[in-house]
Amino acid sequence: CGIVGYIGNEDARDILLKGLSNLEYRGYDSAGIALLNDDGVHVFKEKGRIAVLRNSVDPAVHATLGIGHTRWATHGQPNKRNAHPHQSASGRFTLVHNGVIENYAQLKADYLTGVTLKSETDTEVVVQLIEKFADQGLGTEEALRKTLKLLDGSYAFALVDAKDDATLYVAKNKSPLLIGLGEGFNVVASDATAMIQKTKRYVELMDEEIVILKRDSYTIKDLDGTVTTRKPYTVSFDANDTEKGAYPHYMLKEIDEQPAVMRRLLQEYSSTDGKITLDPTITSAINDADRIYIIACGTSYHAGLAGKHLLETVAGIPTEVHISSEFSYNMPLLSKKPLFIFISQSGETADSRAVLVKVKKLGYPTLTMTNVEGSTLYREADHKMLLFAGPEIAVASTKAYTAMIAVFAFMSVAAAQKKGTKLGFDLVHELSLAAQGMEQMIDEKAQLKEVAREYLSITRNAFYIGRALDYYVCMEAALKLKEVSYIQAEGFAGGELKHGTIALIEEGTPVFAYATQQKVNNSIRSNVEEVAARGAHTCIISMDGVTNQKGDRIVLPNVHPVLAPLVCAVPLQLIAYYAALQNECDVDKPRNLAKSVTVE
Ligand code: G6P
Repeated sequence: CGIVGYIGNEDARDILLKGLSNLEYRGYDSAGIALLNDDGVHVFKEKGRIAVLRNSVDPAVHATLGIGHTRWATHGQPNKRNAHPHQSASGRFTLVHNGVIENYAQLKADYLTGVTLKSETDTEVVVQLIEKFADQGLGTEEALRKTLKLLDGSYAFALVDAKDDATLYVAKNKSPLLIGLGEGFNVVASDATAMIQKTKRYVELMDEEIVILKRDSYTIKDLDGTVTTRKPYTVSFDANDTEKGAYPHYMLKEIDEQPAVMRRLLQEYSSTDGKITLDPTITSAINDADRIYIIACGTSYHAGLAGKHLLETVAGIPTEVHISSEFSYNMPLLSKKPLFIFISQSGETADSRAVLVKVKKLGYPTLTMTNVEGSTLYREADHKMLLFAGPEIAVASTKAYTAMIAVFAFMSVAAAQKKGTKLGFDLVHELSLAAQGMEQMIDEKAQLKEVAREYLSITRNAFYIGRALDYYVCMEAALKLKEVSYIQAEGFAGGELKHGTIALIEEGTPVFAYATQQKVNNSIRSNVEEVAARGAHTCIISMDGVTNQKGDRIVLPNVHPVLAPLVCAVPLQLIAYYAALQNECDVDKPRNLAKSVTVE
């Protein structure tokens, strides 16, 4: 979910709607805004996208204070009734919320018997509680703080009191929230992209803090009312970086940006004379560990698998990769000196953060690799490495995935060099070649579009098979295809298919095989034969000068074998993209998904 708020002198309606459309990648099941003016609070909400909401907002309502919300449903269906904002019984208080209040049912039973709730949401319980305490004589700030003290769970709140058009109340715990500062106005946003049109100056909030926001000031307090001061920071991107320009979709723009991201990473993590420049405390942390535990979700988990390959083969450090939500409740026996590496494009994924909190309590060293400076996982880890990919807006991750793999390459090579390992390759040179190789594949759009047409236009399922490093790429390939085209796809270890799943191969079933690694070239090709013999429509993706053979459908430019996933990524992304277009899917905002999932 995403929230926004504005208090200033301009018309809040358009600022909030623009802010919400910038945040739409965080969830798009339903959306709403509340505007406060002399006539009171006006709430507009709709099921569906911001565009639907925009059409339903009365253009005659003008206000200089308001809040807004775009929802990824957790409690209650994604319908208009459950959409935010929610109001208290008398309509005095209006609230938007990102997060989950775990004890809402108990709070309802303890405090709100006799109050008829209008929605099924945890949020409404909170706004009703605030009103209850205000009715008992507390001021709004005190009523808010008293309520917050009763809550278990996560929240980013923005609250409007109809009796006070000079104040916006804000609170945060576990869910991301920033205050943006302007001249004569201030804003609230789940992340800086929401309000980047208005300001580049932001103040971070910590857990269990509230903010009293006025048109020309902000006061941060803890739940007991003690004031804290904190300096604002300036974000490093601007509004242009969040626009898609001439591109039809963000996903395509972001695929195309990947070679430039590789070059940016070369600038950030190496010097002009070709030396790798990594924070020495990071290299030491890696070399001090007897085992690395990579923790991530979704695409970042798949990047972690490629990272494991790099850390083990290049730096010689045993590495495990875990899905965050599993690790939380099913922790393996740990080694004596572990290092935890969290990978997260957004830096806000609640499942990953839950593990970070746990391992920090256990006293282990932590490193976060993220695209968002200042995000929760960034702030809370001991060490940080940025992805420098620029804002990634399409819900399905592309450029962050390849940036993560490249950062693992820097990390692994720096650790190996520090230990005095002779590597036999120059990463700076090899990564530059990989960037060129990615560019070459990006130029093959027409061919990849044709592959999508030929293999995926009438199928409901597809397989990606590969061995070793290629297997990890296949898992991402299948995820990308599922996410954006809704074709059911599975990434499978080439040798394992025959142990059961081959039962699914029928006449015409598309099977894509990645074959970039020399040592498994013959064996993966045998697996291709096995499925071809059973009618599969096979497509081999090999690497020029390493594994390619006559008849391979896609031949990737030659890059160093450990960097193969970087060039492999482009066809898998573009095939998924074109398959999604064929299926008339909403490429940038696939159904049911959200880019930044801030609930566990
Ligand atoms: C969500 C997104 C995925 C993403 C995953 C992890 O599920 O839809 O695209 O890979 O979260 O996100 P993170 O920001 O932690 O990398």
